[in-house]
This record gives sequence, C-alpha cells and structure tokens, in this order.
Amino acid sequence: MILAIETSCDETSVAVLNGKQILSNVLYSQVKHHQQYGGVVPELASRLHAEFIDQILDDALEKAAIQLTDIKYIAVTVGPGLEGALLVGITAANMLAQSLKVPIIPVNHLHGHIYSAMDSGEIVTPSLICLASGGHTMIVEMTHPLEFNIVANTMDDACGECFDKVARMLDLGYPGGPKIEALAKSGKASVDLPHPVKKNPKAFSFSGLKTAAKLAIEKKVSAPENIAASLQACIGSILVEKLKLAIDQSTYQQLILCGGVFANQSIRQAILNEVAIENVLIPNVKLCTDNAAMIGLAALHYLKHGYSFSNYSQCYPSFGLRLPEKP
Ligand code: KG4
Ligand code: ZN
Repeated sequence: MILAIETSCDETSVAVLNGKQILSNVLYSQVKHHQQYGGVVPELASRLHAEFIDQILDDALEKAAIQLTDIKYIAVTVGPGLEGALLVGITAANMLAQSLKVPIIPVNHLHGHIYSAMDSGEIVTPSLICLASGGHTMIVEMTHPLEFNIVANTMDDACGECFDKVARMLDLGYPGGPKIEALAKSGKASVDLPHPVKKNPKAFSFSGLKTAAKLAIEKKVSAPENIAASLQACIGSILVEKLKLAIDQSTYQQLILCGGVFANQSIRQAILNEVAIENVLIPNVKLCTDNAAMIGLAALHYLKHGYSFSNYSQCYPSFGLRLPEKP
C-alpha cells in the first residue's frame, strides 16, 4: 500500500495505491486561482498547497477506505517543479513517514509521467517515450527499466507552454491546451504554421511557432477557431515527425505517450495514425495531466526493479531536468 503526494506545480494531489490498483487519486486543481494571471504564480501555488493538502489527504484516505496505519510506503514528487510548491508535499511526506515509521520514496516527476502508462498496460523495453507537458517536451528511449537516453529535447518552450501562450493571445484562459482543443473542434487547420528545426532529430523548438501564431492572430489571417485547429494540427505533426526520425534510428517494442498534452484526442490520433509501432501505451486522460497516482506508480516501479527504501530518511527537493534521477 503506497500513499503518494504530488505538489510540483498547480495541482495538490494525494493517491492511495494497493500495488498497481489505484484506490483513490484525489486532486485539487488551483486553476481558478491562477487563471486571472494567465499562468501559474509560484508563491500563490505554494500557499494553496499548504492550505489544501490536509483536506486532500483526508479525502484520499476516505475514498480508498483505509487507515493511515495501512500505509507501507510514502511516495512524493521531489522535482523538477516549483521549489516552494514541492516543499509543501515533501514536508507533508517527511512528517507522515516519520510518524508512521515507514520508508519514503522520492520520485522524479518525469518518471511519474512515464510510469503513469503502467495503468494502461505492461511496459516493455526497449521503448520509445514521448513526454509532452507544460514544462517538458522530450523524446526518450527506455533501454531497460529505469535506464533512459534523451533522444530529443526542446531548445526553448515546451509544447504545452505553446498551447498555453497561444490560448492566452486568443483570450481563452488557462490552461490553454483543453481550451484550444475545444475551440479547434469548430475550426479548420487552414493556416500555414512553421515546423521549426524540422530535420533535426535531437531538437524541438516551439518559440517560433508561438510567434507565427501571434502574427496570425494580430493580422487576423483567419478566425480564432481556424488558428486553434491549425496550431493543434501543427503540434501533432511536429511530434509525429520527430517520432518518425527516432524510429528510423532504432527499433522499439513499444511507444509510450505521456504528459498533459496527450490529454488531447486529436494529437493522440495523429500519432496513432502515422507512427509505425503497434504496441502503444497512452494513460487515460486523468492520468495524463499532473496527479499523485502516477507518482505512486513510479514508486512501485522503483520497488519492482530493485531499489530498496527500507530505512526512513528525510527527502529534499531535487531538480535535475535530465532523466533519469535514480533515487
Ligand atoms: O503534465 P501537466 O499536467 O503538467 C506539467 O508537468 O507541465 O501538463 C500541463 C500542460 C499544460 O500546458 C496544458 O495546456 C497541457 O498540458 N494540456 C493540453 C491538454 N490538456 C492539458 N494540451 C493540449 N490539449 C489538451 N487537451
Ligand atoms: Zn507534469
């Protein structure tokens, strides 16, 4: 039985897992508090985590119908993320682990996104992973469980960030991905947008795309729904292109799509239609965006692959952007 805590950005989340089975995955989204600022305000995020974590913890235990004393491990996100926000979850985890006398499992947030796929099926290696969220856009190969090589990374913005910024230019609110997806349903992908660093297998770049979308909006080249549909289609085809370049270089048993951007049905479909790997794992929409169950699944994966966390010790924030950060 693992109790997992995630507070790296703007979702306060606690989950309880019995092995792979998710007994509860409770989440308080701070979106409405940050919306007026057009993005996450770090200081506000920390304060809101501190305000809500107790309640979310109680709800997660109640929903899972277990007592705190049933918990055998505490898993917590230690980074990457907003430092103040991470510290709220980490402090709660340290206190819980100390009072329950159970080990604490520090989890890398990116591992959380990757192993969220365990909920959809068995992970096999070598696999190719596309992780696209508000903070990251990477293609990573997993050669063995917990051994990774970064194949491609963004040189500037993350692709979720591109969705968020363009949505802001269109006055759609935050987070932008779901708003663009909804608006795109009534539009046509008729606006020509650039594919920066198209031939480079190692790099993504989204800042030029963001600027091109900005110009299209300012010049009113088309209706907002067409710009939204064009941006979504362009990002889908950029991800497809890079995945194809990676697949040309090596053979993979499986493709894993994870991170908030893969909540987008049109982007999922573009990849499923065009990428020639049959075994594809995509977490369900609720596990794509930040949540604590994915942190519990990553912790379970660490345990299954020989990491031992038998002794209680405090944990602290840890900020590598590179994968992996072994505990
Ligand atoms: O994984 P996540 O919840 O948090 C990070 O680790 O960053 O990802 C959040 C990002 C935001 O940029 C959000 O706009 C994007 O994922 N996102 C989407 C959709 N839902 C969330 N992007 C495109 N379409 C969506 N439906
Ligand atoms: Zn995330």
